[in-house]
Amino acid sequence: MTSKIKKKQVYVGMSADIIHPGHLNIIHEASKLGEVTIGVLTDAAIASYKRLPYLSFEQRKMIVENIVGVSKVVTQNVLDYVPNLEKLKPDYVVHGDDWKVGVQSIIRQRVIDTLAQWGGELVEPMYTPGISSTKLNAAVRRIGTTPEIRIKRLSRLLEAKKIIRILEVHDGLSGMIAEDAFVEKNGMKYEFDGMWSSSLTDSTARGKPDIEYIGLTSRMNTLNDILEVTTKPIIYDGDSGGMPEHFVFMVRTLERLGVSAVIIEDKVGLKKNSLLGIEGGQSQDTIENFTNKIVAGRKAMITDDFMIIARIESLILEASQDDALERAAAYIDAGVDGIMIHSKKETPDEILEFCKRYSKLTRTVPLVTVPTTYCQTTEDELSDFGVNVVIYANHMLRSAYPAMTRTAKSILSSGRAQEADEMCMPIKDIITLIPDGV
Ligand code: SPV
Ligand code: MG
Repeated sequence: MTSKIKKKQVYVGMSADIIHPGHLNIIHEASKLGEVTIGVLTDAAIASYKRLPYLSFEQRKMIVENIVGVSKVVTQNVLDYVPNLEKLKPDYVVHGDDWKVGVQSIIRQRVIDTLAQWGGELVEPMYTPGISSTKLNAAVRRIGTTPEIRIKRLSRLLEAKKIIRILEVHDGLSGMIAEDAFVEKNGMKYEFDGMWSSSLTDSTARGKPDIEYIGLTSRMNTLNDILEVTTKPIIYDGDSGGMPEHFVFMVRTLERLGVSAVIIEDKVGLKKNSLLGIEGGQSQDTIENFTNKIVAGRKAMITDDFMIIARIESLILEASQDDALERAAAYIDAGVDGIMIHSKKETPDEILEFCKRYSKLTRTVPLVTVPTTYCQTTEDELSDFGVNVVIYANHMLRSAYPAMTRTAKSILSSGRAQEADEMCMPIKDIITLIPDGV
């Protein structure tokens, strides 16, 4: 009779986005202890504390399945290891010792406590020196991305996160800020999920009014500069979309570039900025005309990855909530991938009322808001009301203009630049801000 000794079970949780020798070392150490099961973290688990990975879950899982020393691959749906540990009851968990600090330290303690229930042990090999995920991430950004990968990032984010935050960009430099800016709070990394190519700021940066005067060619020039220095998804402000015959070309062009979504507003005639309200002399399109435009745009799409989002201007133009809701239902029926509801009120009341009633529609799609005038409202509050996307639509340019004006006036009143110099970044910093690419 042969007696089979059951191999010890080892669990390793992993994002496995950019695999480096540090990961292979962990797997190697784990395999010395027994049979290795890797829990690949889902997009949602990773996005709960840092940037969405470059590779999709399926791609990451496939890579891990093919690493020597890995016996089994399972899904880890949350950052917390406990649900998987309780299911698998491993003898060991192996993790690099770098998680003793930051947000991961709480997760680590829960691993220790859970393993203790069945006498399991946490093994922590030294984090491989000389390898920095941050540096690898920066290197990936320098390489760039492809339209195919970028276009899908918005729908991946919508699946992975309760609410996603988008920042206005109007040139390469503001694109770089949206790409790189982050803050760390309670061990969590906060950054923007994507970018808004605003018609207001693209026009203003060119010294032109926001009246659909800046043509698609100019807008594409701006977009190209942004695409070149970023990897995050872009939502394009398509104004009214123009005539349906023109909108189809806009959709094709954006989709080809890897822009994830276009938002078009249900206005007709000379488009003015929404925040001018009815004083701008603007009028709303009929439901029938606007849905025809949506349908034309959808037909022009080549892939399922691109999104057309309908922007409802009823509240801006002082029509009723009923009108806004009727339009939302009709646009959803026409096949839109999202609804944006806009408001120029200084409190979020009418937006929140819309959200409440919207959630009761028989079919809904992701909901987008632009809290420019009701800026006291937090992302958490909007999320609680069912909002999925928040766009900070003009803040990069609105903050740059007063700063530049202050500097110009300071030089004028002092007759020299010394006083202004204190308001400026050091010259050494600006000449090294953009790497030369070699
Ligand atoms: C833009 O940013 O151009 C917009 C949003 O369309 S708003 O300015 O509020 O109309
Ligand atoms: Mg606009």
